[in-house]
Amino acid sequence: MSGFGFASTAEEVTEGLDLQRRTYVVTGVNSGLGLETARVLALRGGHVVGLARTLDKAADALRELGIEGTPIACELEDLASVRRAVEAVRGLPALDAIVANAGIMALPTLQQLHGIERQLYTNHVGHHVLVTGLLDRLADAGRVVMLSSGAHFYAREHGLELDNLSGAERPYDPWRMYGRSKLANILFARAVAKRLGAGKVSNAVHPGVIQTNLARHIPNAETMFESMRARMKTVGQGAATQCLAAVHPSVARTTGAYFSDCAVAEALPVAYDDALAEELWERTEAIAASA
Ligand SMILES: NC(=O)c1ccc[n+]([C@@H]2O[C@H](COP(=O)([O-])OP(=O)(O)OC[C@H]3O[C@@H](n4cnc5c(N)ncnc54)[C@H](OP(=O)(O)O)[C@@H]3O)[C@@H](O)[C@H]2O)c1
Repeated sequence: MSGFGFASTAEEVTEGLDLQRRTYVVTGVNSGLGLETARVLALRGGHVVGLARTLDKAADALRELGIEGTPIACELEDLASVRRAVEAVRGLPALDAIVANAGIMALPTLQQLHGIERQLYTNHVGHHVLVTGLLDRLADAGRVVMLSSGAHFYAREHGLELDNLSGAERPYDPWRMYGRSKLANILFARAVAKRLGAGKVSNAVHPGVIQTNLARHIPNAETMFESMRARMKTVGQGAATQCLAAVHPSVARTTGAYFSDCAVAEALPVAYDDALAEELWERTEAIAASA
């Protein structure tokens, strides 16, 4: 479809594109794939609205990159902070894409926020509130890009576990719960796709396996990365799929899909369960309303 693949970099997938006068929201702008995505979108002329837990982190990231951008605080674990970010972004020009990139992975023990397992809350609930608050600010051909992961396959056995939002109803497993949150990201991308007007698209992406700060909670991270080295990507390659989904003309009409290695890929069958996606949407709205 796009002609790009595993080894393509974010610079390569955006080469020749003129993103001047375009505006891009990137969450988790201060680290890893978010930082690289911001760098490359700005390199092509785009205006980056960089979101991080604090204004200082967002501003520092843009300063480090040497780009003009708009820094905004957005702590995804605090929905009041997310709603303030929504209001700030709503005051900006229409959005050409929202790249919901921030995330946490494999918390070693069960942690909860407002009674909800923390990975689900941060990776999914926080982004649900942010993105739904901005859908009517998408430009005519605006795009939503949800960072999912191949780790959503860890949810294969138990699925989305809507009966276990607390994470306490079954024995806790860091990877299963991370995988569940990343499955939620795909289902959310599909639910958004159904709500968008013609010309706008919403997709989920797996960036690959990249050594970033995401592994901070894994005790033996270095050993784990050593064993996977041959299958790993650089940060530049890791940011390629989300940049492609956010800006490349070849996928401007692709919606409700799951991307990997810069192409549409097959996710778990349960990721295409639109009734489940709607149920997740309703449950998430209720969680957000009570927080
Ligand atoms: N790296 C991989 O191999 C890989 C594989 C599959 C999927 N992904 C996905 O790719 C995305 C980016 O990951 P990465 O590898 O770039 O990881 P990273 O370097 O750890 O960056 C994650 C970003 O998310 C931010 N974040 C975490 N919790 C937050 C919160 N509560 N509120 C606001 N921001 C928060 C972090 O901010 P702080 O620095 O302030 O904590 C950081 O900016 C994630 O969604 C991840 O699940 C990554």
